[in-house]
Amino acid sequence: MQKRTMLYEGKAKRLYETDDKDLYIVSYKDDATAFNGKKRGSILGKGAINNKVTNHMMQLLEGEGIPTHFVTQLSETDTLVKAVTIIPLEVIVRNIAAGSLSSRLGLEEGVHLATPVLEFCYKRDDLDDPMVNMYHIKALSLATDEQVQQITSYALRINEVLCSYLRDLGITLVDFKLEFGMTSSGQLLLSDEISPDTCRFWDTKTNKKLDKDRFRRDLGDVEAAYQELLSRLMGDA
Ligand code: C5P
Repeated sequence: MQKRTMLYEGKAKRLYETDDKDLYIVSYKDDATAFNGKKRGSILGKGAINNKVTNHMMQLLEGEGIPTHFVTQLSETDTLVKAVTIIPLEVIVRNIAAGSLSSRLGLEEGVHLATPVLEFCYKRDDLDDPMVNMYHIKALSLATDEQVQQITSYALRINEVLCSYLRDLGITLVDFKLEFGMTSSGQLLLSDEISPDTCRFWDTKTNKKLDKDRFRRDLGDVEAAYQELLSRLMGDA
């Protein structure tokens, strides 16, 4: 399958049309940004790692009954996916306080939440992806009630599946972001990526961060942490 017209270039990925209107190719980049593009850099090998981690997670979730856009990995950095129109919501699931939740609610990083917290943000870089509730989603027609219900159910199930899978590998899933899209035939699919760029992964014993917070906060060893996460998932660490 060949890449044709580039449809979109984001901070960490490029998306291409193919000769099949129902299939796209996603190509992962080493470029890294944080704080909505205010901090920029590059993490050597990140594109290949995020491609592999995402595909691993998508296949795990497919096996648990979550429909995803994953079709097949084409190369180190490229994957064939089903074409979808992305719903303009970032769906965040949190198990432990960190990042913007800690600052917003004055919770110390690492505080365990009594139940998972689900948040929706409006995907708008120019507005710094503001958090929205059901009323905003309805009033702005960002998604239908049915889509929100289905997304909620999938997101909480994804959290259960990933938490349990990662727990066995000695990794704590602190929080993560999901995106969903609709196919031309009206199927809702988990899309985008599930990687150290979009999740907070902590080593369960030491609380060492194995994710993009190392880049965001200049903690060092960014490449090594991404590689360690991949190695643990692939069972060779
Ligand atoms: O920054 P914040 O604490 O709200 O992030 C929550 C989770 O969502 C983190 O795992 C972060 O990596 C992810 N996220 C993301 N893309 C965004 C915002 C958050 O992947 N635009």
